[in-house]
Amino acid sequence: TNRTLTMIKPDAVRNGHIGGILEMINAAGFRIVAMKYTKLSPEKAGEFYAVHAARPFYGELVEFMSGGPIVAAILEKDNAVEEFRKLIGATNPADAAEGTIRKKYATSIGENAVHGSDSDENAAIEGSFHFAGTEIFA
Ligand code: GTP
Ligand code: MG
Repeated sequence: TNRTLTMIKPDAVRNGHIGGILEMINAAGFRIVAMKYTKLSPEKAGEFYAVHAARPFYGELVEFMSGGPIVAAILEKDNAVEEFRKLIGATNPADAAEGTIRKKYATSIGENAVHGSDSDENAAIEGSFHFAGTEIFA
């Protein structure tokens, strides 16, 4: 489908990169149809990343994602999930291609500046996690 869910993660917010990241998102042709500045509790961060609960970095991930404010947004573009994952680049910024958001703004594999949904199914689940239907304006 044509929507994906992104979060500008606490590291990028703390480092002053909200504007730079939104510029890259706009320049790549995504339309913002929902957006909020918010902070996840450890419980909500754990719920969001529950799929990684068995991974050794889960505790660190939950602590990081609840450690400061984030920007959550729903983005629209044809083939949004795949196109957005191309724009953000590899999970580890050391492997991220030139021109990607993580190449420019991520500092480590854990503190990697942005989230992007990994499937249409998860994009819908994650969109509903952050936004009520009345908060989405297409
Ligand atoms: P997201 O868009 O945030 O879901 O990233 P991703 O899809 O590129 O990676 P994945 O879903 O595999 O991992 C989710 C998040 O867990 C990553 O974005 C990192 O923030 C974190 N993470 C993944 N691997 C590691 C790791 O080895 N160490 C640490 N500290 N964090 C990790
Ligand atoms: Mg992921």
